[in-house]
Amino acid sequence: MSSKNLTPREIVSELDKYIIGQDDAKRAVAIALRNRWRRQKVSEEMRDEIAPKNIIMMGPTGVGKTEIARRLAKLDRSPFLKIEASKFTEVGYVGRDVESMIRDIVELSVSMVKSEEQESVRLKAAEIAEERILDILLPKRPPKVVMEPAAEEDVLRLPEGKEEANQEGTREKLRRLLREGKLDDRPVEVEVVNGHGGPMIEIFSASGVEDMGLNIKEMFGNMFPQKKKRRKVKVSEAMDILAEEEAQRLVDMDKVTKTAVERVEQSGIIFLDEIDKIVGSDSTHGPDVSREGVQRDLLPIVEGSTVNTKYGMVKTDHILFIAAGAFSMSKPSDLVPELQGRFPIRVELGSLDKEDFIRILTEPHNALVRQYIELLATEGIQIVFKDDSVAEIAEVAALVNERTENIGARRLYTIMETLLDDISFDAPDMGKKKVEIDAGYVKSKLEDIIEDEDLSRYVL
Ligand SMILES: Nc1ncnc2c1ncn2[C@@H]1O[C@H](COP(=O)(O)OP(=O)(O)OP(=O)(O)O)[C@@H](O)[C@H]1O
Ligand SMILES: [Mg+2]
Repeated sequence: MSSKNLTPREIVSELDKYIIGQDDAKRAVAIALRNRWRRQKVSEEMRDEIAPKNIIMMGPTGVGKTEIARRLAKLDRSPFLKIEASKFTEVGYVGRDVESMIRDIVELSVSMVKSEEQESVRLKAAEIAEERILDILLPKRPPKVVMEPAAEEDVLRLPEGKEEANQEGTREKLRRLLREGKLDDRPVEVEVVNGHGGPMIEIFSASGVEDMGLNIKEMFGNMFPQKKKRRKVKVSEAMDILAEEEAQRLVDMDKVTKTAVERVEQSGIIFLDEIDKIVGSDSTHGPDVSREGVQRDLLPIVEGSTVNTKYGMVKTDHILFIAAGAFSMSKPSDLVPELQGRFPIRVELGSLDKEDFIRILTEPHNALVRQYIELLATEGIQIVFKDDSVAEIAEVAALVNERTENIGARRLYTIMETLLDDISFDAPDMGKKKVEIDAGYVKSKLEDIIEDEDLSRYVL
């Protein structure tokens, strides 16, 4: 229904464009994604029985957990919500309750379906907009009035008499001119809806209100009727405005809502990041106590329950949950037992070494080295990274990770920034120039910092 039906192999190869290594994790999410599609194909009774196989991704910080989720979200047309588990508080405490994630994903799904629908009525909307523009340019009613045409359009001059037929003919001529873009710059007056009408109201929602799935803004918004305002714009702009307005009108919001909810129920994916942050520490006192409460609140949602949203009841039984966490201070087995059972698939992401860093620096579509090359090109600097420089940067990253704290690929960001600090600052004053960066340059820039362990703690 919703996904592009990528096979697991295709999903992995898409992920490969951005994430180096971590094959197990890629495989697991690819299978999970494909399983949603498979589930749509089985008989109806079976479909209800097949529960999603939720996944926990574990691995040290900065090795690609969140990145995998981000890329996954773009692959699939399923509603996809990424949220930090640490944002939630137990019901009754100030903060976000876990059910809000269902409301969020439905909201997301609604705008997704809505824009798809608007796209599908675009042609129709444009047609209607055209008629409306013609109505404005050539008002139907008062046929007596001779229009005051701008210069060349004698077409507009209506002889008295056979108005009906003439009007029709004129309209068609105008339509031709309009389509040819000859009227684009002509001013017309259109009525436009002024924003959302009424005064701006900012609501700082207390969770209590959010709980009921009410949208105060909308309620108030309806109290102040939408204000219409006449605006003088060019014909070309008026076309856009009216087409947009018609598209909104043509979309059947009831249908959109229904489809959106269905899509969440059947193919929604929720990525629960930082799940390890809701593992309580051993101490039962202190502010940590509510973490276990959050886990318990999560249980019914992950297991399957019905959540009330402003678009209606949403069943969570078949939503796929992918959780991720560094689990440096804790283990998945520290989660409350019931929750562990809801995440049957565990994948570990390995830490990254020098060879991985070399690839991360250069291979992904958004690779850091490429980013800097493009950034500095805007200043007329052609920067060239020699192979040995990339190897040297990777080496330094691995070394600093080992000596201080292992922050994975994030280390590359700090190192690249430090390395290119001078060039980044001076670039506008350097004139058009080619700069070659080799291992020697890398060493000269970073050596002092690396030697001094304390310094590298702060700088890199
Ligand atoms: N295997 C990888 N391939 C390419 N880039 C990576 C890889 N791992 C990490 N990165 C880059 O490093 C940065 C941090 O990675 P990410 O956000 O995925 O870390 P994480 O595993 O979620 O860590 P944390 O546990 O701290 O949340 C990202 O910008 C990402 O592009
Ligand atoms: Mg992360």
